[in-house]
Amino acid sequence: MANDGITGNHISKTSIISGFSKLNRDERIELLRNNTGVDIAPELDSFLHSNPVLQQTFSEYSENYLTNFFLPFGVVPNVLVNGEMYLVPMVIEESSVVAAASRAAGFWAQHGGFKTEVLGTKKKGQVHFIWNGQGDFLKQIFPKIEAELYLNTETITAGMKSRGGGITDIGLVDLTSKLANYYQLDVVFETADAMGANFINTCLEEMAATLKDFMTGFAQQGTLEVVMSILSNHTPESVVKCTLTCPVEELAPMSGTYSPDDFAHRFKLAVQMAQADVSRAVTHNKGIYNGIDGVVLATGNDWRAVEAAGHAYAAQNGSYRALSDVKVEDGLFEYSITVPLAVGTVGGLTKSHPMAALALKMLRNPSAKKLMGIIAALGMANNFSAVTSLITSGIQKGHMKMHLPNLLSQLGATEQQKAAAMEYFKNKVVSYSAVSSFLTA
Ligand code: MEV
Repeated sequence: MANDGITGNHISKTSIISGFSKLNRDERIELLRNNTGVDIAPELDSFLHSNPVLQQTFSEYSENYLTNFFLPFGVVPNVLVNGEMYLVPMVIEESSVVAAASRAAGFWAQHGGFKTEVLGTKKKGQVHFIWNGQGDFLKQIFPKIEAELYLNTETITAGMKSRGGGITDIGLVDLTSKLANYYQLDVVFETADAMGANFINTCLEEMAATLKDFMTGFAQQGTLEVVMSILSNHTPESVVKCTLTCPVEELAPMSGTYSPDDFAHRFKLAVQMAQADVSRAVTHNKGIYNGIDGVVLATGNDWRAVEAAGHAYAAQNGSYRALSDVKVEDGLFEYSITVPLAVGTVGGLTKSHPMAALALKMLRNPSAKKLMGIIAALGMANNFSAVTSLITSGIQKGHMKMHLPNLLSQLGATEQQKAAAMEYFKNKVVSYSAVSSFLTA
């Protein structure tokens, strides 16, 4: 048993720790030391930022803060989106992702670039409630409820309205066929350049209170219980489509030992496989999210929301499938992806996190719509590169080359050994065992 270091109480491996969040950082670390039996303070301190103002900012993002976690912040050059060239920042730990995106971006910049179209920017939220009276009564008085809901949220929506957003629709949804007495207020929002989660949730909580108040005047008809009010991360109406097109013969630089025609044929089959089989579809879409998540994270957006929405969208027709589509017709190769993206360029972390603000500056401070296009383009770049490798050389060749520095560090290589290994493996297959044999030879 160890001592918690704060109260002098003993803690075992099964002890419940209470009040952890009230401890200051030193006290938390002391408690950890007692719990693990090792002093990790020097290591934790080594990752703190040397600039006290920035360090203070980072430490305020999350409760129970200990230190900073580093990931590479890289850049993909030559990303041509709707005729505008970008250098796109990405935060990602997988060594081959930035290289793969750069290869595709460089190629497509010479073949028309990424064409993107925002198909919608609507977001939704719901007040989930139980009404144990007649559904018809609720439907009949709904226009009056709706008017109250608009009225009582006016002060919250005023600012958003002035930026071109606000509440655009309020519906009453009857879900009693799925769950007894279950109804929703289904509310549609436009949130301009913000992702809008806080705005939406504030509106919804006000609506929930209004609904409850309004219905207490009709107690003889039934009782209403609000269970929760929350935005929906399912955003099938906040969607961007990204397309790449070129004559098949221009695919020659990508087609390896295949003719451009054979390459296009194999590419089409690879996409059709990801449309036909869920196991392949998930991996195919993971390749898309390699690019999407890297930019979403770099720009301070919510990648969990973006991922959740994307996977629900991929399954919207009842079975999970690829988010991309391909056409090879009359000598023309056309590849597209359609993805939901609820992202912002104001609010949240976008400006308060210094690296996110920097990432947006690198993109010339785009609107949310422009950012949707740029993010989709990176998803497409990574997916195009992955499928290209898979149907030509295989993925491991390029991936392991990029992974070589990580393997060398893992195996404790000296700087001299690293340099020698980089040279030696230029034309050889990289594997864990090949690298460790090289180091011990
Ligand atoms: C690896 O991060 C991504 C791939 O698996 C994607 C794919 O299989 O399409 C290469």
